[in-house]
Amino acid sequence: MQDFQGKVAVITGGGSGLGRELALSCAARGMHLVLGDVDEKGMQETLRLVAETHPATESATMKLDVSSLEQVEALAELCKSRFGAAHLIFNNAGVSVGGPAWENTVADWEWVMGVNLYGVVWGVKVFTPMLIEQGEGHIINTASAAGWLNGPSMAIYNVTKHSVVALSETLALDLRDAGSKVGVTCLCPAFFPTAIHESARNRPEDKADTVEPSEMMKKRTEMIKQAVAKGRIQATDIAEMTLKAVENDQFYVFPHRKIKDLIKMRAAAAEAEGAAFDSLNP
Ligand SMILES: NC(=O)c1ccc[n+]([C@@H]2O[C@H](COP(=O)([O-])OP(=O)(O)OC[C@H]3O[C@@H](n4cnc5c(N)ncnc54)[C@H](O)[C@@H]3O)[C@@H](O)[C@H]2O)c1
Repeated sequence: MQDFQGKVAVITGGGSGLGRELALSCAARGMHLVLGDVDEKGMQETLRLVAETHPATESATMKLDVSSLEQVEALAELCKSRFGAAHLIFNNAGVSVGGPAWENTVADWEWVMGVNLYGVVWGVKVFTPMLIEQGEGHIINTASAAGWLNGPSMAIYNVTKHSVVALSETLALDLRDAGSKVGVTCLCPAFFPTAIHESARNRPEDKADTVEPSEMMKKRTEMIKQAVAKGRIQATDIAEMTLKAVENDQFYVFPHRKIKDLIKMRAAAAEAEGAAFDSLNP
């Protein structure tokens, strides 16, 4: 898609970090916004920033949990009732939990898989038929460099992001084979500064963390926090790169160039059939 003026952008996780910057980038292109997030205050802050810079933007918000199919269906209904359509679908909401795989609890798995994987699965399931029927639209799934490379202490996150890459590639192929003009982009950034390391702020009570973290888990969690804070590319730049990718109908987006080299190194490690490749200590 190239002409964004007056079109509708749906952004999950629109209340913080990358989702907020995507909202600003879409508003700058004259788009209407539909934000979905568990954090109502965060979404209102996004809309306040949008109103400051692009006061003519029309918008709607829905407090929702993307891990619920019914709530994602309600988001699509909101798009239809408010704007009659949806064009750019950013399946972007995400959370993170660290620690060695054997220490992660059932609640950890259910929470992170629910948001990072099922959130995207439901976004694809609910919105793709709408876009196909319209004959235009683009689905943008926020994966991660962790969709290609596995650093230690991020098992659940890595699993979900590999799955998002798999889902996105397959979706793009299926749309191609169906002769559809609906586009797909899979965004794969490395660490960049946002509030992702404080994901527990939005963790639901029924999936609460009940286990005292081990020293190893605390150390790894701190390491990830530092890596996020030190990220060299800002969310605002990643949002702009993503919108340009949509304009160019580009499938992959790797904002951090180093990641492509690491993927080649991982392929070489697979070729050698030796030790598991550690992307944080290559
Ligand atoms: N920051 C990084 O280093 C980094 C790197 C690669 C990929 N990503 C991905 O970028 C995306 C955006 O994350 P971010 O870095 O902006 O983090 P963030 O914490 O700043 O924003 C995430 C947003 O998702 C919302 N959210 C959490 N659970 C939700 C749920 N169940 N339903 C709806 N919304 C929910 C949060 O309230 C928040 O507004 C995520 O998919 C993340 O995995 C981030």
